[in-house]
Amino acid sequence: MLKVSNFRGGYRKGVAVVDGLQIDLRQSAVTSILGSNGAGKTSFLRGICGLLPWCTGEVVLNGERVDRLAPHDIARLGVRMVSEGRGTFPTLTVEENLKVGGYGLSAAVLATRLEREFNRFPRLRERRGQIAGMMSGGEQQMLAIARAMMSDPRVLILDEPSQGLAPIIVDQIFELIPRLTREGVQVLLVEQDVGRGLEVSEQAVVIEKGRATLSGPSRELLADPRVRESFLGLS
Ligand SMILES: Nc1ncnc2c1ncn2[C@@H]1O[C@H](COP(=O)(O)OP(=O)(O)O)[C@@H](O)[C@H]1O
Ligand SMILES: [Mg+2]
Repeated sequence: MLKVSNFRGGYRKGVAVVDGLQIDLRQSAVTSILGSNGAGKTSFLRGICGLLPWCTGEVVLNGERVDRLAPHDIARLGVRMVSEGRGTFPTLTVEENLKVGGYGLSAAVLATRLEREFNRFPRLRERRGQIAGMMSGGEQQMLAIARAMMSDPRVLILDEPSQGLAPIIVDQIFELIPRLTREGVQVLLVEQDVGRGLEVSEQAVVIEKGRATLSGPSRELLADPRVRESFLGLS
């Protein structure tokens, strides 16, 4: 439902940090954007969400051009991003954070969604009264994802959700990602760990210095000698 074509953009006029990118989420439940630090992954996501100082190209959501819309309008149309470094409200409780995510919903729908997220993340139910900023990194990441899911997004964008987390928690996050799509949300995952990003997605784009160097079905990319050599340390 989300399709981005010929996307260029950046922070200073004329200086493109992403240049000529395209993605088409219509074919896959999970699509990943892979690449090393500084490749332009976060900038691309910001561009999709209307948060890049300048950009050109087309972003189409459910047949509608959204690339000229304000960030809150793009969000209202169902694109939710969980940013790098998360960003829950640290002084609010778990439950309050989730209610912020469901802002504008009727009380009945809010209660249903809250229950759904507590079922998805039993740990958050146990800690519903806990101040978010006091929780572990993994719990905060789960809270950030649950908060985004409260609005029933069409597209959920996860920017390096495993960053800074212990390996066992990283495993849990990667197990969770395909499960999220059962509710019809399409996931756009950004990941530095190319191997993991490919394993969890159906389609992927590898970007280097703002340009797509490889793209296609993740299964094919996993077998591609260039990927194996440059990103997986195999040959
Ligand atoms: N707020 C900003 N202002 C100016 N340049 C930025 C800003 N954020 C990122 N950049 C630059 O854009 C390029 C891509 O960065 P980024 O999108 O954060 O990469 P990634 O998420 O792949 O690590 C880098 O050269 C970075 O220095
Ligand atoms: Mg980034």
